[in-house]
Amino acid sequence: MKLNNQVAIVTGGALGIGGGVARKLAREGSKVLIVDIAEEEAKKNKETIEENGGIAEYLIGDVALESVAKEMVDLSVSLFGRLDIIVQNAYGGLGAGSAVDINIKDWNKGLNLLVGALYLGAKYAVPAMEDSGVDSNFIPKQWKGFGLRQGNPPKENIGRIINISSVHGILNAPKSIVYETGKSAVIGMTRQMAVDFGPLGITVNAIAPGHIVTERGDDQWKKVGNNEGFRLFELQYPVRRTGTPQDVANMISFLCSHEASFITGQTIAVDGGLSVQLQEDLVMDLKNFISTNKNLRTHFDKEDKSRDRW
Ligand SMILES: NC(=O)c1ccc[n+]([C@@H]2O[C@H](COP(=O)([O-])OP(=O)(O)OC[C@H]3O[C@@H](n4cnc5c(N)ncnc54)[C@H](O)[C@@H]3O)[C@@H](O)[C@H]2O)c1
Repeated sequence: MKLNNQVAIVTGGALGIGGGVARKLAREGSKVLIVDIAEEEAKKNKETIEENGGIAEYLIGDVALESVAKEMVDLSVSLFGRLDIIVQNAYGGLGAGSAVDINIKDWNKGLNLLVGALYLGAKYAVPAMEDSGVDSNFIPKQWKGFGLRQGNPPKENIGRIINISSVHGILNAPKSIVYETGKSAVIGMTRQMAVDFGPLGITVNAIAPGHIVTERGDDQWKKVGNNEGFRLFELQYPVRRTGTPQDVANMISFLCSHEASFITGQTIAVDGGLSVQLQEDLVMDLKNFISTNKNLRTHFDKEDKSRDRW
């Protein structure tokens, strides 16, 4: 197990990507504190982790609030004795539209959750990680090896911050000023935190997932009731499939492990190659599929008018 004796906070850890991350970190030996606004789902995920031999607890609260950011860090230390990892993943209820469409209340609320909560999480988590220090079981044996110059002992293992961005932080969809601005800010914030906290022994990385089918996403696709729409989505990915929470969780558990202690400030796309392919080729490749599936529908169809591109 990669993360024995580690303690992790996962925000939005009840469902979806965060739910999968909480389960994976627990499987790798970490104790996990789930922080979420969805009580029933948080409790259910904690129970699933325990049924599989892991250790988890949950806290109900809105991570955009400073009081909750402080409480989750205090609770991690009081319950589990330390804090090593924070995965900042929670999101929901954002307004959609351009700068003209979005009112100031929705703008502030959205950015408070997408960006502000991550600043608050780090603000309280970093001192707790420093106080926790390096877990002696986590010091890598190979550090001493090979007769080569190794530099200082592995202070890198004091802490890990993982911020969840999106392919929407790298590429922009129309009429999404709140989400796209927030997710690109996460990339800049991750670089800044990496520079600030590297000397303390804390690495900070971001993940940019592509389309990940979660419990909620699956419900949306079921409502569409047209498998061709989902197939169209898959065809846009070089690997010809969309992602799962496990795909993201696997990358996060690697970044939290000792093996990743020299990686910081990076945004890693877990997107099946979506963000590296040339868009004009993609459109040409997909045109046959679209023209031969006359009844094609996707979960975006209801938004067609507001998304008018022509
Ligand atoms: N699913 C995707 O395709 C996808 C793609 C790229 C990026 N992402 C990012 O991944 C992260 C998770 O997305 P998801 O699809 O798993 O979402 P989801 O809606 O399935 O889960 C989000 C979780 O966050 C919780 N939450 C919402 N607001 C909260 C708040 N204020 N405080 C605490 N908890 C809160 C929800 O209750 C839920 O458990 C988000 O940051 C999202 O932007 C998702």
